[in-house]
Amino acid sequence: ELPVFTTAADMRAWVRKQKKSGRKVALVPTMGYLHEGHLSLVKAAKEKADVVVASIYVNPTQFAAHEDFDVYPRNPADDRAKLAAAGCHAVFEPESLYVAVPGGGGGESSNVVGRESNHPDSHETFVSVERLQRPLCGGSRPHFFRGVCTVVTKLFHICEPDVAVFGRKDYQQWRVICRMVRDLDFPIEVVGRPICREPDGLAMSSRNARLSAESRDRALSISRGLRWAEKAVAEAAVTRPDEVAAHVRGMIEEAGGKVDYVELLHAHNLGPVSDLTSQPVLLAVAAHFPARDRGTVRLIDNTVLNEI
Ligand code: PAJ
Repeated sequence: ELPVFTTAADMRAWVRKQKKSGRKVALVPTMGYLHEGHLSLVKAAKEKADVVVASIYVNPTQFAAHEDFDVYPRNPADDRAKLAAAGCHAVFEPESLYVAVPGGGGGESSNVVGRESNHPDSHETFVSVERLQRPLCGGSRPHFFRGVCTVVTKLFHICEPDVAVFGRKDYQQWRVICRMVRDLDFPIEVVGRPICREPDGLAMSSRNARLSAESRDRALSISRGLRWAEKAVAEAAVTRPDEVAAHVRGMIEEAGGKVDYVELLHAHNLGPVSDLTSQPVLLAVAAHFPARDRGTVRLIDNTVLNEI
């Protein structure tokens, strides 16, 4: 029976007991609605540690008011079954990780920091990785990484893992967390794992469930664009970063996607690059496609070119 903890105190007590018995602990933070990509992280975590904790928490502070917090897909019962089958040892499923507002309306929305104007007292301590959080997703989602870093810090303090495993599907998130751990001396080894894809190339994402059949088909333009770039750069058919970006952008727009960004940056420090041969280059994409119900679904994907 897979233990499920809903309070920080219970979770921490369990982890401390494991550590007292000499077991190494790994944490896999997630927002649930788990797919093979998440489970690949659990598998990698099992190779790095004796016991694996997965957290499931749709973190309100990393969503802005206009974003998809309310419609983010959720299925905790199914998630628990998948985690048990994957050999995970415990689940942390807190109701809220933020302090309740005294006399506030209660419920999740009172702690949504992206919508904090109504509740300025709910939370006022944040972790920000100043420079690395600025490009790519930080441009279109200015509070996003602050929300991610703050909640990941809380998860680290509650679960006290020796190892934490992240996916490189969220490439900038992985780099930002690595930097935060280094800058703030967390005694944690951060592991970044490769992107898991559907057989046709679409990067696995909980948000894929919100795509209509037609949108899902159109969204393949993202992974096709990345594959095109890998080939073109390997064959030296293109040499300029802006040429690559323009071509990939064109492929996605032609398929009906609304591009948020297509950018090439230094794969380690996310700084600008002027050529494709002297350093590893991250090609990162974010684009919107129509959702099956209402609004759009924002998808991200990436590849590293000229990896050395
Ligand atoms: P979520 O989107 O649920 O992703 C949880 C972890 O799974 C992240 O490390 C993410 O990079 C990884 N992941 C998602 N899709 C993947 C794929 N196709 N292949 C490999 N790994 C994949 O990322 C978050 O949640 C949140 O921001 C979180 C870190 C939990 C903080 O709230």
